[in-house]
Amino acid sequence: MHFDVFTLLPEVFEPYLAASIMQRAVSNRLLEVRLHNIRDWATDRHHTTDDTPYGGGGGMVMKPDPVFSAVESVLGNPPGCPVILMTPQGEPFTQKIAMKLAEYDHLALICGRYEGFDERIREHLATHELSIGDYVLTGGELPALVVMDALTRLVPGALGDPDGATDDSHASGLLEYPHYTRPVEYRGWRVPDVLLSGNHAEIARWRRQQALMRTLERRPDLLKTAELTPLDIKFINSMQKEQPDHEV
Ligand code: ADE
Repeated sequence: MHFDVFTLLPEVFEPYLAASIMQRAVSNRLLEVRLHNIRDWATDRHHTTDDTPYGGGGGMVMKPDPVFSAVESVLGNPPGCPVILMTPQGEPFTQKIAMKLAEYDHLALICGRYEGFDERIREHLATHELSIGDYVLTGGELPALVVMDALTRLVPGALGDPDGATDDSHASGLLEYPHYTRPVEYRGWRVPDVLLSGNHAEIARWRRQQALMRTLERRPDLLKTAELTPLDIKFINSMQKEQPDHEV
């Protein structure tokens, strides 16, 4: 997976990319991240990348020219890969979108600062717009790291465990079942007996039911789109009889 990131703050990416799984993916050549400072393409004496908005009002707007020049000089015109603009106005980023984007081996991410982008960047340069949630950050750098992290986990071999990403919360459209490790008893709180039973079919059934219960309690909205078997639906219906306030 190869990312070209366009930002005014390339330095904020480096420590995160130099740690843990991202770093290992870079060392194993499963991940390549090239950071480009948009300011390098600002042509005026002060390397200006923002300006006041036409029509007045507060805040500054990212100028189109340095952003277009940066992206086109690195990726060509038109760019040879999807160009994703990180913006609170974008499509909400989900595991499903992560899985779709992971099919590309090359993506460009544009991170904004200031109040926003000149609309022509959105209209004529970006192919996608992504938001990581309904809140406004000071820039697109953290969102770009979030997207790169979620996609890196999906690159085959990037997680030590080959099944690592398949059991994740959200991978199946459900929240994940609870996990336990040693000791069997901690401060009087015991690991559920079924997990110690060695009965793999029972464990799988318990985990599925826990995932369904947890999703029903915390995120019933997810059950509308999750892939459910007839047995799952029967279980959910039986849970709802016990707790009728959960609407699916
Ligand atoms: N830039 C600022 N806030 C953002 C958000 N929530 N998602 C994506 N990009 C952003």
